[in-house]
Amino acid sequence: MQSVSSELLVGRESDLELLVSALGEALGGQTRTVLLGGEAGIGKTRLVDEFLRRPLALESGALVLRGQSIDLDRDAPPYAPVVSVLRGLVAAVGAETALEAAGPARDALAVLLPELSAEQGADVDRSRREGAERLFDAVAGVFEGVAGEHPLVVIIEDVHWADHATLALLRFLVRMLDGARVLFVFTFRSDEVGRGSALRAWLPELDRNRRVERRELPRLSRREVRALATCIHGSALDVRDTDIIFERTEECRSSSKSWSAARRSWGLTAFLRPYAAFCSPGMSC
Ligand SMILES: Nc1ncnc2c1ncn2[C@@H]1O[C@H](COP(=O)(O)OP(=O)(O)OP(=O)(O)O)[C@@H](O)[C@H]1O
Ligand SMILES: [Mg+2]
Repeated sequence: MQSVSSELLVGRESDLELLVSALGEALGGQTRTVLLGGEAGIGKTRLVDEFLRRPLALESGALVLRGQSIDLDRDAPPYAPVVSVLRGLVAAVGAETALEAAGPARDALAVLLPELSAEQGADVDRSRREGAERLFDAVAGVFEGVAGEHPLVVIIEDVHWADHATLALLRFLVRMLDGARVLFVFTFRSDEVGRGSALRAWLPELDRNRRVERRELPRLSRREVRALATCIHGSALDVRDTDIIFERTEECRSSSKSWSAARRSWGLTAFLRPYAAFCSPGMSC
């Protein structure tokens, strides 16, 4: 199905304000973390993208580093999203600066970025033996050191899929970095934080930190759904069509039925088909 999306961001003003204000504090030298939760497709990534287009984000000169957690079913290697972030950082500031910032634990970085071991003659085996502690120190050192020159916005998406090692490292960074010009933004699907999820313990631990703010994105209101549908459709929708779309998308969200099954059972017309883009990605409704 062709996906349709709105150029205009609908709603989410207070969520954008939260992110902009957290960035302002981070730029002023107070490390901040924002946890953005919400069900699949609710608009977490879109919100982050919009935040990055706000004047403060564009004009701050902050380095934006993004990492994506991958569904564990696909055998993601440990620390995968942090490795992407560090690769982005090394590409932006150069290996030498990154290694310098890592300080005495610099060789531990090569456990995550083997390409650095050749550069600095790092002893990867030694670092592995000495365990996670040096590694965590090295990563914290890199962020802290580089943030002295360039503020950092570190975005890790979909941490509900992150492995335990990554979550432990993120928790460590959030706890240890205080006065560094770093804003961390972690997104997660709140509908995947069920029994057995590592986030069940991880989230409350982060919540206890005063430098962390958690925001759960609610579903769009009926008025906002109308604005969104109008934007996609190109002209104002009447109240009846809005009601139909709102109700169908609500049903679609709470159902795992496929689009064709939904069409059969609910009699959705071709006109409504594009609005199924509001439904959770991954559901082909
Ligand atoms: N407030 C909004 N205004 C306009 N479009 C939106 C809004 N929120 C979400 N969208 C659109 O809805 C679709 C899904 O949003 P997005 O990918 O950000 O969801 P998500 O919460 O990150 O989902 P996932 O959990 O799968 O990562 C995108 O096409 C996005 O542009
Ligand atoms: Mg997303």
